Order: sequence, then structure tokens, then C-alpha cells
Amino acid sequence: MEEKTKSHQKHIFICTFERAEGSCCFKKGAMELMQNLKNKSRQDSEWKGKISVTRCGCLGFCDEGIAAVLYPHQKYFVHIKPTEADLLSKKLDEID
Ligand code: FES
Repeated sequence: MEEKTKSHQKHIFICTFERAEGSCCFKKGAMELMQNLKNKSRQDSEWKGKISVTRCGCLGFCDEGIAAVLYPHQKYFVHIKPTEADLLSKKLDEID
């Protein structure tokens, strides 16, 4: 095993988990949100090298999705709409 570090100050994980039955973030448009955030991270010079966006599995907030978690802050976000990439990015900017 080898330890590594990355220079990103913030890492947001978006739940894109899909389940056949019941509520899940995938069915609520998590892939659209993910794509919008990815586009922002590539285009916004303020984000480059500071915020990383990654999809992840279930975060345990299935009924309250779309869910996301910010590291290293361990702050969870729920009830995110697929079109709220700008709102989420503003929240991420406000967190030190
Ligand atoms: S499916 Fe997203 S939190 Fe469970």
C-alpha cells in the first residue's frame, strides 16, 4: 500500500445509485446534476484544482435524494434538484 495526497481542497461526491425498486438518486436525475457539475468544474477557473466532482454509491438518504457529501468537511446535502448545479456550487464556494 502507498499513501497519496491530492491538491484539491474540496471533493464533492454525488450519489448516482440506481435501484430497481423504490426511491434512488438516479431516478431523481443525479446523472444530469453530475454532468452539470462536471461541466462547471472543467470550465470555471475558480474551480480548477480546488473542487473535484465524483459520482458515488448510496449515501443512505434515498428518500431525500439527490444526495451528496463534501469532503473533507463531511457535510451532506439532500433534496438537490438536477438543475441546481449552480446553487450547489455556490454552497461549496461558501464553505471553507
Ligand atoms: S440512492 Fe442516493 S442516497 Fe441512496
